[in-house]
Amino acid sequence: MKWRGCAGCWGRWELWGCRVEDCGLEYGEVGVKGLRCVWVHESLRAEALGRLRRESVVSGRVDHMLHYVSTRQAQLWMEVHRKHAPLFEDAAFGRIFQDCARELGGELVGRAVHVLGLGAGGGAKEAIVLGQLKAAGCELRYTPVDASMELAIGSAEAAFAGEPGLVEPERVQPVVADLRALQAVVDALDAEEPGTVRVYTAFGLAPNFEPEEFFGLIRAVLRPGDVLLLSANLAPVACGEEGEPEAVRVACERILPQYANAETGEWLRQVLVDWGCGEWAGPVEFGLGAVGGVPAVRARCRWERGGELVVEGVPLRVDAGGVVELFFSLRYTPGLLAAVLGRHGMELGRGFIAPNGEEGVWRVRVAR
Ligand SMILES: C[S@@+](CC[C@H](N)C(=O)[O-])C[C@H]1O[C@@H](n2cnc3c(N)ncnc32)[C@H](O)[C@@H]1O
Repeated sequence: MKWRGCAGCWGRWELWGCRVEDCGLEYGEVGVKGLRCVWVHESLRAEALGRLRRESVVSGRVDHMLHYVSTRQAQLWMEVHRKHAPLFEDAAFGRIFQDCARELGGELVGRAVHVLGLGAGGGAKEAIVLGQLKAAGCELRYTPVDASMELAIGSAEAAFAGEPGLVEPERVQPVVADLRALQAVVDALDAEEPGTVRVYTAFGLAPNFEPEEFFGLIRAVLRPGDVLLLSANLAPVACGEEGEPEAVRVACERILPQYANAETGEWLRQVLVDWGCGEWAGPVEFGLGAVGGVPAVRARCRWERGGELVVEGVPLRVDAGGVVELFFSLRYTPGLLAAVLGRHGMELGRGFIAPNGEEGVWRVRVAR
């Protein structure tokens, strides 16, 4: 396959010139210095994005994926992530991923493993998993799948940067796709060598999807023997209080500043700026609510002036005072997560929860 050859040059700048005997490609084809080989699924092409944009304007609810697709949005999101994601401030958050991945590595010693990083973002959590699997002597292949080209490439680079990297560059293939087309993407990938274990990671994704949609998508691709590592943002309730709505509300109020800040507001407004109507909307307002029965932080703004937005050549009217639902982030409790998984034939296995109760990561099993 062509991509294997071209990816072989990544990070090895002395191969500038990309001789055919080194990577199987003609000079100047692909794989020369400064180029990256990325697969792009049709779900991220202009037509599909235009459809989502139109639906977002008509429904007054911005499709979540549209907060990540432009380069500027990816930069703004990384800024939010670096400043407000607990992973970078509190080592205890990294440890739950380390512990979960170390345990997995202990089971898969010396095996061939294909890690599919769903919505891998900057790839920091996948790098932890890959590091532990590498330490366990696993032979690794890595496929980060993300709506953002910048982030998909960034998480690929995180896996093969350094000397030596975590995964051989020719065994890393970033894919740009909407996870709602996950089955099609997985079907299109090269088959693994016999005996390879497929490990899906779904970190930081569950908060951004309607619960039923998300777990339906994931369950559909799991085959017997596949592994799923799932993380969720949690409402940090005290032990024994997770069934008490008031305790959950108070817990969510405590984590609200992680969202209600200038960086997150700027990132979320960027979608309107990209549509050419940034100046029509008022400030982003953050609050609490629920989505699909799961507590959520919500962000919205109001049109301060109305007008006609032309989306893909179609004029759409927005009215002053109308609300634009920009975003939600679900805050599960372990009990709620188990209940939603159960509805999709899955169950929580071993889990690791940060000491402050704000995030957890689990092995997820297909229920017998
Ligand atoms: C909240 S970030 C989490 C990133 C990272 N996994 C982490 O835990 O730090 C969500 C990631 O999922 C991606 N994403 C969101 N919706 C998506 C969709 N429908 N299809 C593909 N990727 C999506 C975003 O581009 C982003 O990288």
